[in-house]
Amino acid sequence: MENFRRIIQNNRAWAAAMKDNDPEFFSRRADGQTPHFLYIGCADSRVPANVVTGTEPGELFVHRNIANLVLPSDLNAMSVLQYAVEVLDVKHVIVTGHYGCGGVKAAMGTDSYGLVDHWLGHIRNVVRWNKRELEAIEDPQRRFDRAVELNVLEQIYHLSETPVVQNAWAKGRRPLLHGLVYDIREGFLRELVVGVDSQEAADQIAQLRRSGVPAGPPPSSYARDALGGSEDGGADALADAIAARVLARIEGRGGNGSRK
Ligand code: CO
Repeated sequence: MENFRRIIQNNRAWAAAMKDNDPEFFSRRADGQTPHFLYIGCADSRVPANVVTGTEPGELFVHRNIANLVLPSDLNAMSVLQYAVEVLDVKHVIVTGHYGCGGVKAAMGTDSYGLVDHWLGHIRNVVRWNKRELEAIEDPQRRFDRAVELNVLEQIYHLSETPVVQNAWAKGRRPLLHGLVYDIREGFLRELVVGVDSQEAADQIAQLRRSGVPAGPPPSSYARDALGGSEDGGADALADAIAARVLARIEGRGGNGSRK
């Protein structure tokens, strides 16, 4: 109980300090919210959304789950997305993975964890689809890091496929999609992809992240397109070309994703 009491005491002290510093802090926020960002991150306790982004209450609309997945079958995530885009009119949707992610690590192994295996299965697919690339990385730490990054790219693509984002883009509107990785060892957010604002851009990411697909049927048509029908070296050449395009895209925008 002592630890729990500490939470209530901390809250009282925090609320008082905030009000001391700005008497209207809470009353200004009582009538509603106008966040510019939807943040989708991992439930991991070491990656608190507002803390690592230096934002205040009212700035981020937040959805968190194990390993920051965006699944069309997840009514919770889809409802958050719809509300954020269609009602709150957020300008940016940010998927933030993190190195050292327990969900990704579990999905890379063969151990069973019960119910959560159903959830981890989605990450196991990401690992399987990128098997060739991941197996080519000798350093286990770097391989784990890369799996985290690929999982973020996968979720950006999932976002781009949702009717909510498709409809918003069809109207020539935002949101811009961004994929970040939080480096738990340094405290930095790294930019993987920023400013994705069209199906074309999302398709480039899809091609990038599945360019190492080994034998076996890809799950949907975009992955087949990504392979360009080639069985061997073609996919690698394609991946290089796409990587160059995506990098040019990021660099062309100064890498800060603040175009809009
Ligand atoms: Co995690």
